[in-house]
Amino acid sequence: MRLFIAIKFNDEIKNALISMQEQLKRANIRGNYTKPENLHLTLAFIGEYGEPGRVLDTLEQVRFRSFELSLSGVGSFGKLWWAGLSASVELHNAAAQIRHLLADADIPFDKKKFSPHITLIREPTKPALPATEVPDAKMTVTEIALMRSERGRNGMIYTEVGTVSCQ
Ligand code: 2AM
Repeated sequence: MRLFIAIKFNDEIKNALISMQEQLKRANIRGNYTKPENLHLTLAFIGEYGEPGRVLDTLEQVRFRSFELSLSGVGSFGKLWWAGLSASVELHNAAAQIRHLLADADIPFDKKKFSPHITLIREPTKPALPATEVPDAKMTVTEIALMRSERGRNGMIYTEVGTVSCQ
């Protein structure tokens, strides 16, 4: 199964992200918008791996205190447009720790540098991301989730396999 490790959002962040997507829709941009229930921040992408229990056991070794995240800025990686987050040492530490734990356990994961982003839309019908207002929104992260991704009839379906909590 296809697995990834992510932070799920509170309603404040989710609603802010939805309002950013609405701005893009009002600018007549169509494309593959991330469904509200799928909005998340990936910390590590594992991909196809058959032993979710092993991944969860490994993730359970992560140690972190609760930390704040707030939305900040927008950007694009080609045809993927994203919302960003204010710089957070705690977020980078959590991602680095998880990646070390996965590597030590020989669990494969995408080694690309961690660049925190929340995908708003893929394959937009316009070439350039327009100016987009980013609402003030924040949350306290207390949990990190192991997620499973499957292709459903109406797009991707993300399901929580398990979570780990802050100390
Ligand atoms: P993305 O939004 O930038 O595509 C589930 O696919 C999650 O894992 C998405 O958040 C996706 O990020 C992320 N991800 C990171 N690396 C990936 C990869 N190599 N292939 C697919 N998804 C990846």
